[in-house]
Amino acid sequence: MTYTQNLSACFSDENTQRFDRASFGRWRDKAAEAVDWLREVYAKGEMELLKQPKSRDGFDDWRTIASAWRENYTDIVVLGAGGASLGGQSLCAVGYDQPGPRMHFLDNLSPTKLNWALNVLDPEATAAIAISKSGATSQTLAQASVIFDWLGNAVGHEHLFEQAVVITENSEANPLRLLAECAQIISLDHPKEIGGRFSVLSVVGLLPALLSGLDIEAVRKGAQEVLEKTVHCQSIKENSVAMGAALSVAFEKEKGAASSVLMTYAEKLTAFGQWHRQLWAESLGKDGHGTTPSPAVGTVDQHSQLQLYLEGPADKWFTFIREDTRGQGYGIPGKWLQPDQLDYLRNRTLGDMFFAEGQSTIETLVDKGRPVRVFEIDGVDEMTIGGLFMHFMLETILAARLLGVNAFDQPAVESGKKLTRHYLRGMN
Ligand code: PA5
Repeated sequence: MTYTQNLSACFSDENTQRFDRASFGRWRDKAAEAVDWLREVYAKGEMELLKQPKSRDGFDDWRTIASAWRENYTDIVVLGAGGASLGGQSLCAVGYDQPGPRMHFLDNLSPTKLNWALNVLDPEATAAIAISKSGATSQTLAQASVIFDWLGNAVGHEHLFEQAVVITENSEANPLRLLAECAQIISLDHPKEIGGRFSVLSVVGLLPALLSGLDIEAVRKGAQEVLEKTVHCQSIKENSVAMGAALSVAFEKEKGAASSVLMTYAEKLTAFGQWHRQLWAESLGKDGHGTTPSPAVGTVDQHSQLQLYLEGPADKWFTFIREDTRGQGYGIPGKWLQPDQLDYLRNRTLGDMFFAEGQSTIETLVDKGRPVRVFEIDGVDEMTIGGLFMHFMLETILAARLLGVNAFDQPAVESGKKLTRHYLRGMN
């Protein structure tokens, strides 16, 4: 596996913030039932998302676009909201230190951000993707209209198809698809049965990943490995995904956890924390259920959130994802360090420090009795992030099953989208 999950600091016979193994038994049993359901769904091919990691459909077309764009453009603008953007952002973060076009995800409707793009980027050297499953999200439609027009005005509208695509569902009267047809831009199909926040392993995440120079086959391989392990694991105690789902729900229901903190000590997983936040919140926050996901970044949030985590209310449970950075990065020059004050920095690298900071944060929380689980990863590559995507999507699906909510809809958000359209129509 591309990661290991350590749950030892979630259990204790004495500490009431954690579970004693015996009383957790009923949650394990529920999780085992949920895995049986998932195994059946997978075997019968009933969930599109679970079929995706093995498929290579579309790869050739996406690769053709990506290699032309990587050669011809210095900047790529990606338009889309929520699940249409966060998966791509998390993937592109894996390749951010590699040469290639700069990726700009304009996932906020803010006019300031769009103005920045229009003022700073060169339209002749910029390509754009607009992503919306429904094709009806007004923010994406508005941004696409502006950006495509800006590109077309610069290079000639007859050339727009060379540097713009949309990704949207192939359905009738889809407004983004119709817009693309009018502008003579290619539409790539957004899978119909996969919602935005579960779409990272589709063209939605993988086209931006290719543009960042990533190996998308490895992303899917990592995901497939975790999927297989989850559905075929013989022992529920060793089923990382099922145990994670059971603990999340059990901490919410029995230990008063109102918030789930996901703290990453891995630079390339900062955006992943944001992706997970949306996945968890929008999938589970229903019918009075759900914990508030709170992404945190090590070491940044040691200097912002840690005090609260340690001495604030015991209403959180903690997940760490920690990369082994020991020996990596620059060595710290010792020549100005006073031996009597700073000897601990001598002969250390920045990676040593980063790792030690993560270790001490985890240990301090554990010593305070907080419930903590820790993922260990060797590094953040395509296989690893593919595995983590699948882990957390399955964990969310199983948690939804335990809570009895539908992971795949977002009825309350949809009514807000309708109201925005209503207000815009009535605006003077
Ligand atoms: O995860 C989801 O379903 C949502 O966050 C959507 O991705 C978001 O609302 C954008 O929707 P659409 O892709 O239809 O524009």
